[in-house]
Amino acid sequence: MSMLDQSSRFVRLLGLSGSIRSASYSVAILQALQAALGPGIKLEMADVRLPLYNEDEDGENTGAAVQAFRQAIAQVDGLVISTPEYNHGIPGVLKNALDWASRPSGKSVLKDKPVMIITNSPGLTGGVRAQAQMNETLLSVSAIILPGRQIVISNVAGKIKDGKFADEVNIEFAMAALHRLVDLCRLHPAA
Ligand SMILES: Cc1cc2nc3c(=O)[nH]c(=O)nc-3n(C[C@H](O)[C@H](O)[C@H](O)COP(=O)(O)O)c2cc1C
Repeated sequence: MSMLDQSSRFVRLLGLSGSIRSASYSVAILQALQAALGPGIKLEMADVRLPLYNEDEDGENTGAAVQAFRQAIAQVDGLVISTPEYNHGIPGVLKNALDWASRPSGKSVLKDKPVMIITNSPGLTGGVRAQAQMNETLLSVSAIILPGRQIVISNVAGKIKDGKFADEVNIEFAMAALHRLVDLCRLHPAA
């Protein structure tokens, strides 16, 4: 496909939730974005339930779940990470998954991968501290962090209706960023 055709290229995205809670608001946000997608974009969900990172179990000994997780990231053009903040930082389950994805060093599937970050909180701060930590972690693995205004969703519990994230203003804001992510993905498609 020539450079001129990239604007119509199909884009595959992978959603990662920083929470594995059954009624997670972070998952509900990803689902709201899924529901708002137009044609030409697909957003699938990753499973971040991986064993605790252990370098002894990495390399030749990497387990099937970790291999599948790395493969899922390698196959998509970009990531959408939606996460709460735990104790002013990235929830351990998400950091653990990113640590697995970060290896082998220098050959991580996150390298040159466009990533959009959404944080949320039932409080007023919207997970800004987790957002800052995510930037640091993604920088360290040479991912491409979507530039622009941060997507920080406060009072998330009050924006859930019948189990769905239903705040139109937040959805519109996040979708504008998602479309910028898609443009970025078209410049950096998965191999
Ligand atoms: C262990 C733990 C630590 C938390 N720490 C914070 C925090 O530092 N800042 C904050 O805004 N919310 C904090 N919360 C509240 C979470 O933002 C809230 O539980 C959120 O709904 C979790 O996201 P989820 O709905 O996707 O599971 C914490 C919750 C837990 C369970």
